[in-house]
Amino acid sequence: MASITVQLPQKSYQIAIAPGNLDQLGPKMQPLNLGKKVLLVSNPEIFGHYGERAIASLEQAGFDVSHCILPAGEEYKTPQTLQNIYDAALAHRLERSSTMVALGGGVVGDMTGFAAATWLRGLNVVQVPTSLLAMVDAAIGGKTGVNHPQGKNLIGAFHQPRLVLIDPEVLKTLPVREFRGGMAEVIKYGVIWDVELFTQMENSRGLDEINNLTPGLLEEILIRSCQSKADVVAKDEKESGLRAILNYGHTVGHAVESLTGYTVVTHGEAVGIGMVAASRLAVELGMWNEESDRRQLALIEKASLPTKLPSGLNIEDILVSLQTDKKVKAGKVRFVLATGIGVVTLTDKVSADVLRGVLAGMG
Ligand code: GLY
Repeated sequence: MASITVQLPQKSYQIAIAPGNLDQLGPKMQPLNLGKKVLLVSNPEIFGHYGERAIASLEQAGFDVSHCILPAGEEYKTPQTLQNIYDAALAHRLERSSTMVALGGGVVGDMTGFAAATWLRGLNVVQVPTSLLAMVDAAIGGKTGVNHPQGKNLIGAFHQPRLVLIDPEVLKTLPVREFRGGMAEVIKYGVIWDVELFTQMENSRGLDEINNLTPGLLEEILIRSCQSKADVVAKDEKESGLRAILNYGHTVGHAVESLTGYTVVTHGEAVGIGMVAASRLAVELGMWNEESDRRQLALIEKASLPTKLPSGLNIEDILVSLQTDKKVKAGKVRFVLATGIGVVTLTDKVSADVLRGVLAGMG
């Protein structure tokens, strides 16, 4: 289907996208000089669906494979859960030249990436994302980490994968709520980078389920989203500037996730809510118009994502939570706001009162 390169000064890598790729995991890793020992990390459900096929492919290619199963869910993305991966790495006697393979969604990918970044001061990691969200975002670009009770991904490291292997066929078993969460990140790329993707989504008969996408759109979504992410990461690997635009919708989104204990809304749902807030803020600041706001809202609704704050959430708590976000610079919260479809900018000019007003309108 497609091969996209993430161009980096140190080690560039491929995002390989094709139906049936899961069975190509071993052959695709073979030429990359990834050592013999592999620790495959997954969660119970994904491992049940795809673990055997992934392991068979790796073993047929000559890898010595063991596996580690983590509990599923954002609430387990903690330093405590990481210990399971470290214990398995020790038991399997992984070496510096060895490789961890993340087979799962964003939680598995982020934790495996962080374990690979830290065990023996750094092993190889290969990302095999199985959720739409992980395919288009989390698996690409080397952000790894775990959550702290006070905030999402506060403990982490940059650790680029050696390969990202995407098999769109695995989306067949993805729960519909998770598919919609992934669509939030796809809509994000349309707003921040790729106006053509945005209009293709507007023209689709639906965005709420794979089967409701216009034929050919899934392929476009995967290729265009991965290309957008690869472009941005290639220009700013460690987020010293441009990469921050990928956090569109994540500022309020992270606060919502964190304040609701990571159990009430999914990450994608929180990003959808955060994009609604960002859009209203941009309108308030006169940066973009009501028509663009309406078009973005229509896409979020078309993906059946929530557009209101979860009930019971206190607006003042959101404002406090924003202060612990990684996007705070010199004490000021930096927002990514859109100025046109496909164009965003960073600003720290959002006053607490404007934010309060926007959030009050989202209850
Ligand atoms: N998910 C945002 C980033 O990778 O920078």
